[in-house]
Amino acid sequence: MRKKLIAGNWKMNLTFDEARRLFHELINLKYDSKLVDVLIAPPALYLSPLAIANSSDILIAAQNCHHEDKGAFTGEYSADMLASVRVDYCIVGHSERRAMFNESDEQIAQKVSACYSNEITPILCCGETLEERRSSAHFDRITTQIDAAIKHLKDHQARSLVIAYEPVWAIGTGETASAAQAQEMHQFIRKLIAMQFDAGVADQVRILYGGSMKPGNAHELLAMGDVDGGLIGGASLDYESFRDIIAFA
Ligand code: PGA
Repeated sequence: MRKKLIAGNWKMNLTFDEARRLFHELINLKYDSKLVDVLIAPPALYLSPLAIANSSDILIAAQNCHHEDKGAFTGEYSADMLASVRVDYCIVGHSERRAMFNESDEQIAQKVSACYSNEITPILCCGETLEERRSSAHFDRITTQIDAAIKHLKDHQARSLVIAYEPVWAIGTGETASAAQAQEMHQFIRKLIAMQFDAGVADQVRILYGGSMKPGNAHELLAMGDVDGGLIGGASLDYESFRDIIAFA
C-alpha cells in the first residue's frame, strides 16, 4: 500500500513573513503521518530557515536545482547544497521550468541523477499541453519525458521516485483533469516504470496528480487507485484549502 503524499508548491509566492505564518499553521496541523506525508516546496531562499524551524513531520522540498554540484553558475544552487541545509525532496522538470526556462528532457534527467547522488528524492514532473492532448499525442509526450528521466536509474533509486503528472492545460487554469483522465494516465505511467524496471518497483513509485487540485475535486481524484497524492499550487497557499485537501488523503 503506497502512502499518500500531499505536496504544496508555493512557486514564487509569499513574502518571508507570510511564508513563516503559513508554515507555523502547518506545523501545528494534526494529521496522521503514518497515513499521509505532507510536503511543502517554498521559494529557495526560505528553505534553510524553515528547515531549521521544522519541529514537525512536514517534509521540505526545493522547487528546482542545478545538475552540477558546484561551479560558476551565477544564481543557481545545487542538490549538494540542498542536502546541506536539510532539504529532503526536490521538484524537477516542472512544466513552468520546461516552458519558461527551456529545460530539456536531458537536463531534467541530469537533475534527477544529481538529486539521487545527494540523497534527495526527486519529484519528477511530466505533463502534456492542450494541443498534445487534442491531437492524441499525450501518451507519447509522457513516454518521452518519463523514459528520458528514468533510463539511467538503478532499481533502488526508482523505488523511491515520486512522479507528478501535471497536464499543462490544468495548471493554474482552474480546469482539472477528470478523475478518469488522471487515473488513465497514472496507470499508463506505472506501466512505463514496470517496463523499465519491474512490477514490484512500479508498485512502489508514488504518482501525484497536479493541476488545479482543490478541496472541491481532491476527494474524487485521490480516490483513484493510481493517484497517490497531489502536487498543489494555488490551493496550497491558503491554509484552510491545503488542510482540507490533506484531510481527504
Ligand atoms: P495549480 O499548480 O494547483 O495552481 O494548478 C500546480 C502545479 O503547478 O504544481
